[in-house]
Amino acid sequence: MTAQDFILESYNSNIEKGKVKWSSPSNIALVKYWGKRQHQIPENPSISFTLSNCKTITEVTYTKKEDDGFSFDVIFEGEKNEAFKPKIQTFFERIETYMPFLKDYHFTIETSNTFPHSSGIASSASGMSALALCLMSIEEKLSVIQSPDGKRQDEESQDYFNKKASFLARLGSGSACRSIEGELVVWGQNESTESSNLYGIKFDGEVHPNFKNYQDTILLVDKGEKQVSSTVGHQLMHGHPFATERFKQAHHNLARLKAVFASGDLDSFVKIVESEALTLHAMMMTSMPYFILMKPKTLEIINKIWAYRESTDSHVCFTLDAGANVHVLYPENEKDSVLRFIKNELADYCQNKKYITDYVGKGAQLMKN
Ligand code: PMV
Repeated sequence: MTAQDFILESYNSNIEKGKVKWSSPSNIALVKYWGKRQHQIPENPSISFTLSNCKTITEVTYTKKEDDGFSFDVIFEGEKNEAFKPKIQTFFERIETYMPFLKDYHFTIETSNTFPHSSGIASSASGMSALALCLMSIEEKLSVIQSPDGKRQDEESQDYFNKKASFLARLGSGSACRSIEGELVVWGQNESTESSNLYGIKFDGEVHPNFKNYQDTILLVDKGEKQVSSTVGHQLMHGHPFATERFKQAHHNLARLKAVFASGDLDSFVKIVESEALTLHAMMMTSMPYFILMKPKTLEIINKIWAYRESTDSHVCFTLDAGANVHVLYPENEKDSVLRFIKNELADYCQNKKYITDYVGKGAQLMKN
């Protein structure tokens, strides 16, 4: 599909008002997206586990209006929020071509997260995907005939809905396009899997039972403002001395992970995932300007995980986003032992001993208003 396929040609503008509500999860990348071209096109492919517990719930009320221009209010966790408005304004500007009804309505966007505010957990993936899904539900309600024969098969329409939701979410925040479906989602053109640069696609390869219900415990090491916004971070990959090699490596790691998912080889999984996390941070340490986004406690946790793995037959491993928090990943059958290890040995490194237990999920859900 091309971007052209997502332009809504005609719609029923007689609908006066309505309300839609979605819950959409966060995701954790195993092969990392870092570096992008214009229009949020990734420089390399990425793959992520969709999460279950860390999610955003968004309700959008739409009311017909006469004047021109975008009009919306944002209510975050029960209070009117001005800080989110510029990002949503930019998002609306980027997607207007595909959703020509945006200027016909006033939108009230009520949103909240299941994870603590300012926990340092990026809410852009769950937040932008939840908003994109609400807008898709509105589009569906306003839609007139959409396919040449006037009908669309259910499966085909679900596929279009998910792809366009992911396409829109990408324009809000790149990694958000991987939050629509579960359990593994690939984004970015590559030779190993079915893929697109425009939207995320459910991983089409075989997945060994070892990876079913994979666990992710998020250790909250640093709740502060991000030292480098992802916009700035992605830009630092332009002209980065190691960029070309890094992008090649991501293709290679995705191909290796595909084989690992089929075989269930957890040792190789650990190596690829940890190497990806460290490479992401290495890219930031070697850009100009350069940044260290880990904190001393991040390193202490990594060393503890390595020591634990050394002294047991565990397959626990870590991954990192562009910050200091640590995602601890492990198979479901190690849940009890690893949670004990986290409680006894890692919780002390977390702010207020806080961590969030999560696991792989199936994607976003439409909610009853
Ligand atoms: O979606 P963005 O632009 O905030 O980028 C996020 C990039 C990482 O989280 C660091 C990696 C990834 O693939 O999710």
